[in-house]
Amino acid sequence: MKLLVLPGDGVGPEVTEQALRVLDWFARHRGLALDITHRHFGLENWRRHGTMMPDETWARILEADAILFGAVGSLDQAGVVPPEERRKGSLLRMRRALDVFANLRPVRMPPALAEASPYKPRITEGVDLVILRELTAGMYFGEPRGVETLPDGTRRGVNTHSYTEAEIARAARFGFRLARQRRGHVTSVDKANVMEAGAFWRQIVTAIHAAEFPDVTLEHMLVDNCAMQLSRNPRRFDVVLTDNLFGDILSDAAGAIIGSLGMLPSASLSEDGRRALYEPVHGSAPDIAGQGVANPLGAILSVALLLRHSAARPQDAAHLEAAVERALAAGARTADIAGPGEASIGTAAMGDAVLAQL
Ligand code: IPM
Ligand code: MG
Repeated sequence: MKLLVLPGDGVGPEVTEQALRVLDWFARHRGLALDITHRHFGLENWRRHGTMMPDETWARILEADAILFGAVGSLDQAGVVPPEERRKGSLLRMRRALDVFANLRPVRMPPALAEASPYKPRITEGVDLVILRELTAGMYFGEPRGVETLPDGTRRGVNTHSYTEAEIARAARFGFRLARQRRGHVTSVDKANVMEAGAFWRQIVTAIHAAEFPDVTLEHMLVDNCAMQLSRNPRRFDVVLTDNLFGDILSDAAGAIIGSLGMLPSASLSEDGRRALYEPVHGSAPDIAGQGVANPLGAILSVALLLRHSAARPQDAAHLEAAVERALAAGARTADIAGPGEASIGTAAMGDAVLAQL
């Protein structure tokens, strides 16, 4: 497997380092064959070399079997990076160019973290769901977009929510196939009571279900209700299939169940599974970057997703996920998941804790 490592900005390099130690364990002990290349990109690269995305790095991105991604800085407070450069280095450009439309954001409650969650244990116990967010269409990419000046001199901002039948269909098929490997239940989330494009989403998902996946249970839910159900009874969800914007919002809401974004991994996959982008959900976290305190478990659990989806090693993936749960059960806590009065450890020590369990 040709693996491209893009640590990027902020806490990206720190958490990626721990993820790589874990990958190395699988290379040495389980015969995982990897051809690893490292490249710099992002705001830090812009500061040093005047470009957020060197052309050579972009070429590597397009030819990699899988990418392990840290974070890209979004805070350009001084506003010094030219818009053109920012576009070149943007995550959205990468998602779109790789056509990784299926974004998986699993949320599994580790029993040991019941105290770190803002929710009561009776709500969080046994939560095991995955948000399947369509990632390359919808509001993020729809045209027309922009800010325009109207004939009367006032301005308006415009973005467009747009989905073709084919874009909905491939996301739906991915969701149903995923459900077959899990508990066989899909909740498709839209705003069909208000949006024509939402009613269209529902219609296409329903048709594909009836024609191809009658063995899977399908329910439809309006997005506002879904936001509420995610906090009232998150255990009721298995696969949550939704569009790009709703998926962005609902995945943060679902992440709150665990109590820290630092715990959440993600995988973004193409149709044939031959392109894949793995990244922790948390982002660059500039406030704690460089201090060695960031939680590497989002990045480490992204390695588990890589083992499952790019390397076709479900047993190794499960082995890693179990090792993370045991490390937590043994008391390993970074600051973001430490309960009141609990001692916390740093990024590298959390990596050690997982390796010890492996
Ligand atoms: C995410 C993030 C990104 C998104 C941002 C950083 C563009 O919030 O991956 O959820 O909105 O997709
Ligand atoms: Mg988001």
